[in-house]
Amino acid sequence: MNWLNPLSFVHTNTKQIIHFHPLPYRLVSSAVLHFKAHQHSYYLKLLKVPRAKQEGELNSLGVQIMSEAISSKRLLGKVAIITGAASGIGEESARLFAHHGAHVVIADIQDELAKSVVESIGFDRCSYIHCDVTDEDEVKSLIDQTVGTHGRVDIMFCNAGIISRSDQTVLELDLNDMDRLFAVNVRGVAACTKHAGRAMVDGGVKGSIICTASVAGSTGNERRIDYTMSKHAVRGLVRSAAVQLGKYGIRVNSVSPWAVATPLLTGALGLKEEETEKVYADWAKLKGIVLKKKHVADAALYLASQESAFVSGHDLVVDGAFLCS
Ligand SMILES: NC(=O)c1ccc[n+]([C@@H]2O[C@H](COP(=O)([O-])OP(=O)(O)OC[C@H]3O[C@@H](n4cnc5c(N)ncnc54)[C@H](O)[C@@H]3O)[C@@H](O)[C@H]2O)c1
Repeated sequence: MNWLNPLSFVHTNTKQIIHFHPLPYRLVSSAVLHFKAHQHSYYLKLLKVPRAKQEGELNSLGVQIMSEAISSKRLLGKVAIITGAASGIGEESARLFAHHGAHVVIADIQDELAKSVVESIGFDRCSYIHCDVTDEDEVKSLIDQTVGTHGRVDIMFCNAGIISRSDQTVLELDLNDMDRLFAVNVRGVAACTKHAGRAMVDGGVKGSIICTASVAGSTGNERRIDYTMSKHAVRGLVRSAAVQLGKYGIRVNSVSPWAVATPLLTGALGLKEEETEKVYADWAKLKGIVLKKKHVADAALYLASQESAFVSGHDLVVDGAFLCS
């Protein structure tokens, strides 16, 4: 955009002149202003915060605006928690959500790895809280600390998960292994949904809760029965929570990836990243493209953002038509 004066600019693409001074605006945060003009939304980063910090008419003398439109930031001013974001899909989502203007709180048990992710994203846009999602007290503390520091939780991405220790079928099912897996994949997701949901209700936040399920949540499988069962449970949790939290304006959805070469999958197969991708590329229905963490993070971003404003109770599969066959 090209600035004509501090209160009007020419939009680079549409060439429209936008005079935003007389328009009502909203302070998204202490430094970001939002207004609508010509059926578009604009977010502007303030260099100086207006003297009167309430909503209403802009005081032309009290504000200077950065000469860059940041309306492409889809999560601007939002506070997002992502569990399991020290690695894999969660890490990629943390980078993407932060890039889109959210402050991201990473919750994980791999402390050193998580801290290095925070450092690479930037301490102003990302922070880390140690949280074992199997422990409800730690989950409650994660939410309380986030609300205490940032004032709210807008987005809860319940992503932490583990895979079965063995290929077990129902005939070999080790129930202790199943309990351990359910503690993370089901209990952990339920605890995060519960406490984030409570914080959103208490704070009057019309938030977005996203859970990572899997294509294994929609099919029977030859092996790893406990993992398959756990992802079916996540789908049930999402459907019910969406129904129950809808009256508060809170949306609950899941994202269901097919095979992504993260440490979870490469570790289970005992293969390197490229080898894992090659195995699944042969098996994929959609050819000429390899499923990457970024594709799943993009789907989570859609569910987190206002672009999915009326989408709730949905399972967004990222599987290149795998489930269609
Ligand atoms: N990779 C795939 O092919 C695939 C496919 C479908 C679904 N998924 C799901 O995606 C999610 C992310 O997995 P990923 O593939 O990125 O794996 P990953 O191993 O790279 O990441 C999982 C993260 O969860 C964290 N974690 C594990 N137990 C935890 C606990 N108790 N508390 C907090 N954090 C914990 C790990 O430390 C790790 O950082 C999981 O729910 C997984 O089931 C993965």
